[in-house]
Amino acid sequence: MASQPRDEYATKPLTAETWDDFAALVEANNGVWGGCWCIGFHPEGITKDSTADGNREAKRAHVANGTVHQMLVYRADECVGWMQYGPPAEVATIKNHKAYEKELVDLPDWRIGCVFTGSRHRGEGVARAGLAGVLGAIGRAGGGTVEAYPEQLEGRGPQRGAYLHTGPETLFEEFGFVRDRRIAKWRWVMRTTVANGAEG
Ligand SMILES: CC(C)(COP(=O)(O)OP(=O)(O)OC[C@H]1O[C@@H](n2cnc3c(N)ncnc32)[C@H](O)[C@@H]1OP(=O)(O)O)[C@@H](O)C(=O)NCCC(=O)NCCS
Repeated sequence: MASQPRDEYATKPLTAETWDDFAALVEANNGVWGGCWCIGFHPEGITKDSTADGNREAKRAHVANGTVHQMLVYRADECVGWMQYGPPAEVATIKNHKAYEKELVDLPDWRIGCVFTGSRHRGEGVARAGLAGVLGAIGRAGGGTVEAYPEQLEGRGPQRGAYLHTGPETLFEEFGFVRDRRIAKWRWVMRTTVANGAEG
């Protein structure tokens, strides 16, 4: 997998101003999983009654209400990926929640939820640029403990990026995250602490 230098990319938060760039990426990728529109980790989650249009409008409402933190990654003017993050109340519907709560000691200040790179741009350092952007934004917002819930890769065969919904463990290791506890066969809670003012 070829790595691109981080400075090939720019990051911008998802806001009303960047909505169209985000929407273009989602639409170019069939709504992401057929119409999730990156709503799965928000409090309402995906239910049996969810529709692509409903998810799109729910996401738009989060943007209008300021209840989403999501770092978009740009190559030139094109949005090519994102990383969602936020306080636990905002990134509420994490995978393996029951197992997570079983050994929960303290909630983090921040969670990283969904990670996505457009299918034409994978393996080019987009998720890496997104994570650097997220950690920088968290540092500027005062820092704190940050959890991610990525997939273990060692001990398994090669994994298609398409199924690494919460990102690969190796990416988070690169940025200093360490394993806290296992919550599924291949999924770990990983943690790091970002200092106030630190850049990603
Ligand atoms: C997983 C995913 C986010 C990775 O994004 P990416 O931009 O291709 O990742 P990067 O190029 O920044 O990779 C950074 C590091 O992560 C690891 N990595 C990324 N993809 C990997 C894969 N398929 N297998 C193993 N390791 C991988 C590697 O350590 C890589 O470093 P390297 O290039 O030096 O080897 C991407 O494949 C994706 O979007 N998959 C779909 C996920 C999805 O559907 N999300 C929405 C779910 S609700």
